[in-house]
Amino acid sequence: MRQKQMKLTSMGVKGRAAVAVVFILLLLGSLWLYGNLESPWESCLKSYNQNDKVVFHRNGSLEPYTLELCPGQTFQISLLFAHLRSAPVGTDDVLLEPYLSSWDELIKFLVAMGPLVGAISNEIETKTSIIRELAKDEAERMRADGQSGLRAEGPNPDLGAYDSVRSMISAELSRGLVDFQKQTDSGCRTLLRLHRALLWLQLFLQKLGLPPEPGSDRLRSPSDLCREAYQQTLANHHSWWVRQMADLAFLALPERTFFYRLICVQNQEEATAILKKVVHAIDVMYNRTQRALDEHNMLDLP
Ligand SMILES: *[C@@H]1O[C@H](CO)[C@@H](O)[C@H](O)[C@H]1NC(C)=O
Ligand SMILES: *[C@@H]1O[C@H](CO)[C@@H](O)[C@H](O)[C@H]1NC(C)=O
Repeated sequence: MRQKQMKLTSMGVKGRAAVAVVFILLLLGSLWLYGNLESPWESCLKSYNQNDKVVFHRNGSLEPYTLELCPGQTFQISLLFAHLRSAPVGTDDVLLEPYLSSWDELIKFLVAMGPLVGAISNEIETKTSIIRELAKDEAERMRADGQSGLRAEGPNPDLGAYDSVRSMISAELSRGLVDFQKQTDSGCRTLLRLHRALLWLQLFLQKLGLPPEPGSDRLRSPSDLCREAYQQTLANHHSWWVRQMADLAFLALPERTFFYRLICVQNQEEATAILKKVVHAIDVMYNRTQRALDEHNMLDLP
């Protein structure tokens, strides 16, 4: 680190600015680690109330029908899993409400990763609210037309066009809302942004869940894994500046033990078990969205 700093300093003003930024990032990162994670593992257990309906297993299980909440954490991996599992509908469609609820949980995950990654999550939150607004407007319009409740299929007929990925795509296409040339705030275009970010997070979680390589007991740092996942996915869609910012943000990522607490496990074995399930659930949702967008040539919407 010292060598790196000296090298950077010798680069002059730019170098010093870079060192300052890195220093601030590290400071923020450590502040976050020591100041903000008020509930280490122990208090997780302490605050567990036997009378709660919540079942809290410490063995990395994620049974589909039990909600195993981790008290003291904002991000709840069991909730994320539940939303992911309820998103697929029919043979090849995805319900938008659980899709967006999955993102609500993933945003909490990003926020927990530190202030800089949290900044990325603001952008994502804006995207989820755009689709929610569209769905709300649609529901109001339908109510005004007296159409509410006419659609029988789907758990939320009030949402109409914004019930599922495919219903949104057909509705926006038939209404001429999707612009293939220039940027608009269409639901389809917004979904594509979320869709790309989802691939990055999925890949990161997948890498985080990998056991140590055979013949080695060393696990790679979450920083490296997150950067690598980013470079393999989202970076392809980002400008040079955004890529540099992201690189800096990933530098300040917490250690692996932080992630164990975050997903409510104690060791890599449990993390591997739980992340495998979550990654698979994301995979199902992602693939369905991917096919729907692809069939309508929407994978490059500006
Ligand atoms: C974890 O514990 C729960 C409750 O004791 C049990 O039902 C489940 O099968 C266990 N899962 C694993 C992977 O051991
Ligand atoms: C999703 O698509 C990828 C790439 O085509 C494939 O490898 C994977 O098996 C698919 N997953 C599911 C759950 O269908």
